[in-house]
Amino acid sequence: KPETTFPKFLQFFFKRLHSSPSPSLPGPPSFPFLGNMLDLTRDHLPIHLTALAQRYGNIYRLKCGSTTMVILNSSELIREALIKKWSDFAGRPHSYTGDIVSGGGRSISLGDYSEEWKAHRRVIHGALQRCTSDSLHTVIERQARRLSQVLRDYKETTVDLSEDFTVAASNVITTLTFGKSYDKSSEELQKLQTCLNEIVSLWGSPWISALDSFPLLRKLPNPTFSRLLKEVDRRDELIGKHIEEFKKSDCEEGGTLTSSLLQCQETPQGAAKQQMTLTDTHVHMTTVDLLIGGTETTAALLNWTVAFILHRPEVQNKVYEEQRAVLGVRYPQYSDRHRLPYLCAMINEILRLRPVAPLAVPHRAVRNSSIAGYFIPKNTIIIPNLFGAHHDPEVWKDPYSFRPERFLKDGGGSIRALIPFGGGARLCLGEAVAKMEMFLFTAYLLRDFQFLPASKEEPLPDLRGVASVVLKVKPYTVIARSREQ
Ligand code: HEM
Repeated sequence: KPETTFPKFLQFFFKRLHSSPSPSLPGPPSFPFLGNMLDLTRDHLPIHLTALAQRYGNIYRLKCGSTTMVILNSSELIREALIKKWSDFAGRPHSYTGDIVSGGGRSISLGDYSEEWKAHRRVIHGALQRCTSDSLHTVIERQARRLSQVLRDYKETTVDLSEDFTVAASNVITTLTFGKSYDKSSEELQKLQTCLNEIVSLWGSPWISALDSFPLLRKLPNPTFSRLLKEVDRRDELIGKHIEEFKKSDCEEGGTLTSSLLQCQETPQGAAKQQMTLTDTHVHMTTVDLLIGGTETTAALLNWTVAFILHRPEVQNKVYEEQRAVLGVRYPQYSDRHRLPYLCAMINEILRLRPVAPLAVPHRAVRNSSIAGYFIPKNTIIIPNLFGAHHDPEVWKDPYSFRPERFLKDGGGSIRALIPFGGGARLCLGEAVAKMEMFLFTAYLLRDFQFLPASKEEPLPDLRGVASVVLKVKPYTVIARSREQ
């Protein structure tokens, strides 16, 4: 009725009124032009955003240039936005630099929500599921055994294991995608890893994000941006070479993700029905997505695990004893996980304390909506602070302490509130891969080794970490003592 009786100009006025940012959304004062840039460039942003939640509540806004960001700091609010209202918040922000690193928005992780993106994600999800059921267990097992051998070869010397963890995680992905794995010394692997890491860290730098919020800066010389462009070119050359080599050699054998995708290009069964052409850029960017999403995350988690158990040696002994009691000398299978509750509780506790993608990936409201009763206009950027949600004192007793027991029966930990992989339409695409990796890698490592501090004089690893896109532990050294004495 009001549609017909209300004069047109009044309808327009009310619409405008409703689509302006909610005036009552709390947040720190913002400066003209800069907005809250000073907050957003703070060291260890997840900790800073969590501290702001204590002052402004679990939902507040920050401004960056003309963009409004809404920060969500509890799992209830994150679930409301990402899961309950998934279709309102499934977008990704458009950005100048995001387009450059994502092949014009054609990656799964940075591509905006559209029919093309949905079809692309469905194709990749299907291909990943096929790989997971056919070969993933064997692939991870092989890498876990290889990692154990690498550690045994160190013969109890003091070492930094971070590169070995990266190689193990990266080999799982390169085997799934190209059917290939590498040694730590491989020049090919080193080139690719260095280049991908550079892109992630450069893209996370304030010198680059400033270009998205303040277009005028794009006219000024910016050496960090020039480096980013160079690394993106290098990445595309390296990945392109891999795909071309793969097409020439292995393609007909099938069984890998890339062969599955190339097959989809030739005989686009499901994809054609959804009117989606899987272009070479899609195949290329999928490889980038899986390599970036699947390497540093898993490697960082293994590094955190060793760092935490150096602080609490009795935890690793419990995991070891549980395996001996349940499995004897046999190595674990993923299907054993329900019989190894302490190991699973320890993994969950590490994921809670150090969600390796602490701020997930920013979402964008694709239409006007609301969160916790606050009006959220279309195009608002939503930042799910997973780190904050995992330290919410309303949900977690003693949230900052490492207590795997909280995830045991009647331990008080809430699996529902644990959301390290995000949720909804943008749920981590590699969740199933990551869970199997975390279980098998950790089980093998703690079955085969006792981890000891490098020396009595050296301090134990710093557990605060360094937060960029991935939350990593600062470099530390350790001794891996074989349990087979
Ligand atoms: C996205 C966490 C491992 C591939 C994400 C997101 C999180 C996450 C929080 C963002 C979700 C959102 O936007 O709301 C993790 C954690 C991992 C892990 C904690 C390991 C411990 C992996 C692995 C792969 C992977 C192994 C690949 C095999 C991706 C991709 C996306 C993504 C492609 C983008 C999904 C999209 O935008 O639709 N991950 N991840 N991740 N992850 Fe993971």
